[in-house]
Parts: sequence; C-alpha cells; structure tokens
Amino acid sequence: MKIEKVLVETEDRNIKTFSLSFANGADKSDFNYVPGQFAELSVLGKGEAPFGMASSPTQEGCLEFTVNKAGLLTTALHNMEPGDIVGVRGPLGNGYPLEQLEGGNIVIIGGGFGFSTLRALTNFMLDDRNRGRFGDITVIYGARNPGLVLYKDELEEWGKRDDLSLYMTVDSANGDWNGRVGLIPNIVKEVAPSADNTYALVCGPPVMIRFTLPVLQELGFPSDKTLLSLEMRMKCGLGMCGRCNIGSKYVCADGPVFTLAELSKLPQEH
Ligand SMILES: Cc1cc2nc3c(=O)[nH]c(=O)nc-3n(C[C@H](O)[C@H](O)[C@H](O)COP(=O)(O)OP(=O)(O)OC[C@H]3O[C@@H](n4cnc5c(N)ncnc54)[C@H](O)[C@@H]3O)c2cc1C
Ligand code: FES
Repeated sequence: MKIEKVLVETEDRNIKTFSLSFANGADKSDFNYVPGQFAELSVLGKGEAPFGMASSPTQEGCLEFTVNKAGLLTTALHNMEPGDIVGVRGPLGNGYPLEQLEGGNIVIIGGGFGFSTLRALTNFMLDDRNRGRFGDITVIYGARNPGLVLYKDELEEWGKRDDLSLYMTVDSANGDWNGRVGLIPNIVKEVAPSADNTYALVCGPPVMIRFTLPVLQELGFPSDKTLLSLEMRMKCGLGMCGRCNIGSKYVCADGPVFTLAELSKLPQEH
C-alpha cells in the first residue's frame, strides 16, 4: 500500500498515524475487515509486525494504522513519508463480534495506542448506516499526560455529539489541561456505567486492564460481556507457527479479541 498521509499524534512524536491507499486497485475490494482485526505491516529489509486497523471499514479505500515507535520495524515506518510503499498482509484475527454487540449498549474503555481498534469500532458504530444498530455508547479514554492524547480532533467532535458519552482523562496534567485527571479504573468507577444489556470492551496497557476488570465486575458486568483485545508476540499471524498460543488458543487466529469468560478458562500467561 502507498502512504498517503502521516499524522504525528503525540508531542514526543513517538506515535504516528499512517493513512494508506491500495497500490493495486483489485486489493481494495478484497480487503474486507471488521474493527478489531489487524494486519502484518512490513518494510523491505526491516521485517514484519502486527498492527490493529485504526480505521473503520466504513472509510472506504484507505486503511489507517497508529504506530508507536518501539524497535526496528516501527522506527523504519516512522522514517517513511507519503508516497513510500508498505507491505500489508491481512486482514487477520477475529475482530469485535459485531452481530453479538448489536442491540446492546457499548462501553469502550481504552488507554495508550491500544485505543486504536476501539477508535475504529466507535467510528464504525457512529456511521449513519450503523448507529441505529447499537444502543448507548460510552467511551472512556485515558492517556498518561495531555501530550500523549491520540486522535485529538476526532475526540473533540465525538465530545459534541449527543449520541455518545465521552469521558477523557489523563494520569497527570500540566497547566493547559481542563479535563479530568485520574486513572482509568477510577474514572470507570466514577462514571459507573450500567451493566444492563451492556458490553464492556477494554484495550490498553496490562496494568490498566488489571485494575479495570475488578471495577467492571463490581459494576455487574458478566465475564461473557467483557471483551479484551490481547497483544502477544506473533510471527505468522495465521495460527501456524505456534508463537502466540495461550493453552489451546492462538491469539492471532482465535483472537485477538476474547471474552473474559474465554480467557478465564486458559492458562494465566497473558
Ligand atoms: C494484534 C496486535 C496488534 C498490535 N497493534 C499495534 C498498534 O496498533 N500499534 C502499535 O504501535 N503496535 C501494535 N502492536 C505491537 C507491535 O506489533 C510491536 O510493538 C512490534 O514488535 C513492533 O515491531 P518493532 O520491530 O518496531 O519492535 P521490536 O524490535 O519487535 O521490539 C521493540 C521492543 O518492544 C518489545 N516488544 C515487541 N513486541 C512486544 C509485545 N507484543 N509485547 C511486549 N513487548 C514487545 C521488544 O522486546 C523490544 O523491547 C500490536 C501487536 C499485536 C500482537
Ligand atoms: S503468530 Fe503464528 S500461530 Fe500465532
């Protein structure tokens, strides 16, 4: 795919969102995905790694990936510019179970770049063609500090809508921040979304997930309506190499989205 646009998301410039277009027109109609799926991105000579689609399939003809600069491949990606070509192998994984979520209220809880596929799902649900299929939508999103908040313009637009409740927070703030300050689990406790006919979808750093799950349980969210998206080291992305398994499940092929009920039956190594 060809890089069309690169947006620097964070003040430290370590997270960028890449908008890609299909170099081969035929691939456009073949690449059908649901929010929560991922693709393996590759740069010649630098390797391949998995990244969640940050765009919604309702944005036709382009894919977006939000990439945190971590090592060899992501540094190579960060050095690329519009016009450069990136290898994309996908879509991979299961994605969010849209049919199951339909008719329910949705609580989205995201932190760090783990928010990218939840952003994709939110944009999918907010699309005029889909909004009526879902109940109330609540988004609780947190970053470590204001300089690390992603998708700022889009979040501002979401904040103006009356069909979505947005709660943004940072762990610690400087003078310019007028919003909430507090850790995500505490904000979830404060917002206290009703668990009635509601799915909670959580993605973020492990520490955030660890402290958020007990709050959701206290609020009455059953484990089969609490969904998590996992990040494991991967290679093939196809359930073949055995790199990413937890017990009998392959995170790349059976996941990365699992219910808490499914995960509680697996060895606790995730
Ligand atoms: C399903 C899935 C979706 C992902 N989505 C995104 C995304 O949207 N945006 C994004 O920026 N990243 C995402 N990642 C993570 C990304 O694939 C890794 O960070 C990747 O290894 C980066 O490649 P690299 O060559 O730049 O870094 P590497 O050279 O592979 O690693 C750099 C550093 O990160 C550590 N590391 C690498 N992978 C992991 C891991 N899975 N868990 C813990 N530590 C690790 C390494 O030990 C090393 O210290 C996702 C991973 C998975 C499995
Ligand atoms: S990455 Fe090969 S089995 Fe999952």
